[in-house]
Amino acid sequence: MYSLLRPLFFKLDAEKAHYTAISGLQTLLKIGGKGIVSNSVNSDKRLEREVFGIKFKNPVGLAAGFDKNAKWIEELDKLGFGFIEIGTLTPKPQDGNPKPRLFRLKEDNALINRMGFNNEGVEIAVERLKEIKAKKPHIIVGGNIGKNKVTPNEEATSDYIICFDALFDYVDYFVVNVSSPNTPNLRELQEKKPLTELLQTLQNRNQKKENPKPLLLKIAPDLTDSQLDDIIEIAKEVKLAGIIATNTTISRENLKTETQKIETISNGGLSGKPLTHRSTEVISYLHRKSDGAFPIIGVGGIHSPKDAIEKLEAGASLIQLYTGFVYEGWKLIGDINQEILKRN
Ligand code: FNR
Repeated sequence: MYSLLRPLFFKLDAEKAHYTAISGLQTLLKIGGKGIVSNSVNSDKRLEREVFGIKFKNPVGLAAGFDKNAKWIEELDKLGFGFIEIGTLTPKPQDGNPKPRLFRLKEDNALINRMGFNNEGVEIAVERLKEIKAKKPHIIVGGNIGKNKVTPNEEATSDYIICFDALFDYVDYFVVNVSSPNTPNLRELQEKKPLTELLQTLQNRNQKKENPKPLLLKIAPDLTDSQLDDIIEIAKEVKLAGIIATNTTISRENLKTETQKIETISNGGLSGKPLTHRSTEVISYLHRKSDGAFPIIGVGGIHSPKDAIEKLEAGASLIQLYTGFVYEGWKLIGDINQEILKRN
């Protein structure tokens, strides 16, 4: 069904299409119920897995950025996702960058975005999560947290703490996002010293709770091997529950889209098919070099069951989709799960 609708969505401006597709989905679910979209394979018992103490109904999740404000969790759950990551949320609401800020590279099965953490602020998301968690406690929700654009890096920790405290009772795991290319200087927080301090502060706070939550870090695909070595060291030192690899890339290598078009689009994070290989490489490196010391959530350019299997074989325990979901629709979730079952 999505393949029939896609040409219509793709005629719209990319950001508008996002909202149109979701309101279409809401209507579809109201008229036809869950059966119209979900594939029963997604709830096959054999797909269940336990990772960092959480039981997932299947390993295919929705990556951060799609449902920043926790608005469509129930609908996304009905599509068959094993878990949904909301955010990136910041303490205060912010508009993000001027539009247009989301672009399709159709020849490359890719997107470039410079959204800039547009979100309604953590408090509004918490209000929505309270309702959803009361109604549907079984839906696994990850809380991806960041800092406001106006907050200088030296004060970033307090922004992460505000989001952490506000979301604590309503999410199942946390993701510290320091890898978005669209908030000026944010990625400097990936450096060893500031990153250790930030993560240790959050982990100390977490460990004081009666039931601490898994704390994960999301990293960029543009880190060097030596930076990845630092990440492994920090992950062990701070006892992170896992790593999410990867966010979007600032690289523009090996694209089929005309250079002129790429230059006109200008800055932003590239996602989708051109990222598949690099993100798998990062997963594989982290898994090998750490001797599998922590679980990895693999994300970046999964557009087919084969792409998903490669991430799992590289060492990912769970995977997430964003751009592949935009290009292929919800059928991709069932197709991946089917392939995993076939290989069981
Ligand atoms: C993202 N991504 C993202 N990641 C994150 O941690 N916080 C965010 O707010 C966003 N926002 C966002 C918006 C848009 C429009 C896109 C396309 C992506 C990154 C996303 O979660 C994922 O890591 C990358 O897109 C790589 O996966 P795919 O898209 O290649 O499957």
